[in-house]
This record gives sequence, structure tokens and C-alpha cells, in this order.
Amino acid sequence: MSLKEKKILIIIGGGISAYKALDLIRLLKKNYADVKAILTKSGKEFVTPLSITTLTKNKTFEDIFDKNSEAEIDHIALSRWADLIVVLPTTANFMTKLSIGKAEDLATTVLLASNRDILLVPAMNVRMWLHKATQNNLKILQDYGYLFIGPEKGEMACGEYGEGKMSSPRQIFSFLKNYFFEKNLVKNKNLKALVTTGPTREYLDPVRYISNESSGKQGYEVALALKKLGIKTKLIAGPSNFISSRDLKIKKIISAKQMMNEVKKSLPVDVAVCAAAVSDFRPINKSKNKIKKNQANLSSIQLEKNPDILDYLSKNNKARPKVVVGFSAETENVIQNSKIKIKEKYCDLIIVNDVSKKDSGFNSDYNRVSIIDKKGKIKSIPRNKKSFIASTIAKIILDKLLINDKNIN
Ligand code: C5P
Repeated sequence: MSLKEKKILIIIGGGISAYKALDLIRLLKKNYADVKAILTKSGKEFVTPLSITTLTKNKTFEDIFDKNSEAEIDHIALSRWADLIVVLPTTANFMTKLSIGKAEDLATTVLLASNRDILLVPAMNVRMWLHKATQNNLKILQDYGYLFIGPEKGEMACGEYGEGKMSSPRQIFSFLKNYFFEKNLVKNKNLKALVTTGPTREYLDPVRYISNESSGKQGYEVALALKKLGIKTKLIAGPSNFISSRDLKIKKIISAKQMMNEVKKSLPVDVAVCAAAVSDFRPINKSKNKIKKNQANLSSIQLEKNPDILDYLSKNNKARPKVVVGFSAETENVIQNSKIKIKEKYCDLIIVNDVSKKDSGFNSDYNRVSIIDKKGKIKSIPRNKKSFIASTIAKIILDKLLINDKNIN
């Protein structure tokens, strides 16, 4: 795929690998991309503005206080100009700045102001990379939605060996090609997704209901992650205080029946993710008025089964989404029970929440999951932010949706 008309802004950080930015620029230009570069103060110690300008055929941007360049193109315009921003090399110090939202020079200001995808290409000594501070920053930055490539394992400029070596210009170039290829495909195919999330409420009378502990956060994050990949996403959410319609199409519902109706209305879609903790049962009768203490038959509430939405979607011959994803919450025999469930529920992926631990799962911003596919392949993600887990799930879904197109290409 040609990168014609793709606008790529490269921010060159201060590390010995900065010289590799020149190779990457050369590769991008050869593939007709439009490239602009910001050279940080420390990056300037390793490469010169002249060599960058020669290769990009554009002015090299250097300092936020450069009155001439601000008049010509300010930091906001520069951050909007790009289709994608690449920071290369991303040093440990730079990661720290980004994780606390610093805006102290042109590079950090452009990044903080950006509404585009940003690819970080870390390069540093192995101890610096593995340091808890850097690893914590990594988690924060992944949570903020930064993309990462590398670092790789290998011999470093300092002579030590380990994880910290920057990905090669070829690897970065392949990543970028794949990134734009996927973006184009998603756009051309006009992919659509629906996600269910949150609990449902099944009312006994106007004030009392059966429900559960679900916060809806994980499904909300999955919907955001799918949308970020360019998939038109609708979230169908049960009652939750954590879900906002900030930048997502949301349909709020209360009961399982309403959720099912809304799901039916949303078909056809290419992917359905059922993250909702749908109440399995509902009272057969809902009293019109509040049931009085002395009137109630306290010995029994008669219940009937709610429709199984996931089951309806996965076994829907007429409008089965290409990818159907279910969730399951387990406290024991987590993997074994889920392998049974993926077969029973006839879905393509099942995300198993381990709800046995107190520091993740229900009502938490964190989760521990295993992603299981039909062949029994398992990808386990240890405790991490629900947003990070969501972007991993979204990427796996996208790969499944595009698998045939990728094989053809
Ligand atoms: O069978 P179980 O309820 O454990 O399965 C959980 C999965 O099924 C989740 O993906 C959940 O969203 C979905 N589900 C559903 N409708 C129901 C019950 C569960 O979509 N009535």
C-alpha cells in the first residue's frame, strides 16, 4: 500500500537512536508520504535540522518560542496537520513528561494538544526500561491511548544486552503501513459494532428491583476502543453512573427485555460484544404500586427466565454478526468453564473475567482477563486498566474482521 497523501509528523527525541529517524523519513518519502519533523533540543545533539529538512523537503520545526514558525504554523495547527504522530526515539525522560502531561516545549505541547493517534518508539538502556517508574509510565501512557512499537531485545549502543533496543526503521515502516492499511479497510468497509454493557434491572414494583454489581466499565471501554479503530459503534447500556455519552453513541436501557429489543433494532452489525451482566431472571408480575410490607407474600417471588441476548446473536442465522464476543465471570476452574461456555454460547471469542480477586473486576478500573478463541487459544492479560484490556480485545476483534482481506493483500 502506498502512503500517498498520508501526513506523518515525526518528533525526534534525544537518544543515540535519533539518527535512525533519517532512515525512517527516507522510507516514508520513498512511499510518497508527506513528512514533517519536530527536532527536540536534545534530539539536536544527535541529528541536524539540515539533514532532516533535506530528507523531508519541509522546514524542520524546533522551538515553541520560534516566532517565525508560530506565525507560519502554530502548535495546534501542527498537531492537527498530521494523520499520525511518531515519537522516535521515545526516551525514559520523554515518557515521564507525557505521563504527567507536560507542555514545556514544541514537542510536548503538540502531543498534549493532539487529537490524533500517537506512536511511541521507546529506546533506552534495559535497566531504565525495566525500572518500575518506566513500567508505571508505560501503563499510564497505554491507558491514555498512546500506541507503542518495541522496544526489542538486543545489544544496545551502551554495550549492554536486553529489552530496550529501538525497533528498526523497517519495523516501524511496516507498522505504519499496516496501520494505514487497516484504517483504510475499516473506513471502506464501513464496519459497525454493537456492545452491550452494565447490569439490567428487573422491577418487582415501582421502587424495588433485582440487579447486580456490574459497573459497565469494561464494556464501555471496549466500545470506546472499537470506535477508536474507526468502527461505527453503538453502546447499549444498563443503568450505570460510569458511562457517559462523551464521544459514543449510547442507548440507555433498564431491563433485559429492553436491551434485547434495542439489540434487535441495531442489526445488522459486523461485530457484537456482549459485556452486559444481564439479569438471568425477572419477576413474572410487576406490581403497579409499591408492595406494602403487610400485603406481601414474603415466602416467594415468582421468576421467569430472561432472553439470552448473546445466544440470540450467535445463533441468528439471518443476521449473525461476523464476530460475536461473550464475557464470562468465573471464580473457579476459570479456563475450563469458559471453554465449555464458548461452545455452548456459540461465540467466536470469550473474555473471562477472574472475579475472585478484590483488586479487579466488579466496580474497579482494573481487570484480569483471559481471551479465549474457538480453537481454545488463550491470551491472558494480568491485572491492568480496563481501557488497556479493551484496546487489546478491540485489536483482536479487528484482526478477526479483516483476516481475509489481510490474507489477500
Ligand atoms: O451464561 P452466562 O450468563 O454466564 O453468560 C455470560 C455471557 O452471556 C455474557 O456475554 C453476557 O453478556 C451474555 N448474556 C446475555 N443475555 C443474558 C445472559 C447473558 O447476553 N440473558
